[in-house]
Amino acid sequence: MTTKINAHGVLLMLMFFPLSGLSADNNGYNFGKKLSEPDIRKIDTTVMSNGQGLPAGSGSYIVGKELYLKKCAACHGVKLEGVAGAGNALIGGRNSLSSNKPKKTVESYWPKAPILFDYLKRAMPFDAPGSLTNSEVYAISAYILGESNVIDAKTVLDAKSLTDINMPNKDGFFVWPRPGAEKQENTVKK
Ligand code: HEC
Repeated sequence: MTTKINAHGVLLMLMFFPLSGLSADNNGYNFGKKLSEPDIRKIDTTVMSNGQGLPAGSGSYIVGKELYLKKCAACHGVKLEGVAGAGNALIGGRNSLSSNKPKKTVESYWPKAPILFDYLKRAMPFDAPGSLTNSEVYAISAYILGESNVIDAKTVLDAKSLTDINMPNKDGFFVWPRPGAEKQENTVKK
């Protein structure tokens, strides 16, 4: 018996095996690409607020300043003051959060220093996330925190010294159990 596939059969095959070139690599969705191991390694850091996960390496204010001016200032300003429409201010605003004009920056808002490492390593520079080495991230952190007057410009940052920093807003967050939230589902009017 010979097998004939007529136009109808081809249509059926297309229905069940649509665009079979798109295999498990992209889960059948027609976008994205599989990350390579080196791609993953570039952003594969998870640093907790208590410093857990901070990698080896170290960096100074002076090295950080040079890197900042080259890789960050275009969007965050030469004086870390922010650039309208590009990137927000990174310093200033201390004690402004409860005022009518709260200014949220690393200096005024962020409660723990290790999360600065976590964020910069994964997300910045905005146009090339994951491109900074660990020591470069320590150096840029030293520059931002030095310009914030949170640390002395002579402090060299590494896993230990970054964890030891007391941020100005370290007591500005509290755990809120959201009393009543667990009942909300029952109170929604049907
Ligand atoms: C092309 C523009 C651009 C460049 C270059 C850039 N950033 Fe950003 N940055 C942004 C934008 C936009 C955001 C806000 C991102 C968001 O909210 O998701 C941001 C957010 C941040 C934040 C968080 C601010 C906050 O308080 O929420 C920090 C810190 C930061 N950038 C630091 C840096 C550093 C350090 C560099 C250089 C290594 C850098 N950025 C380079 C555009 C940029």
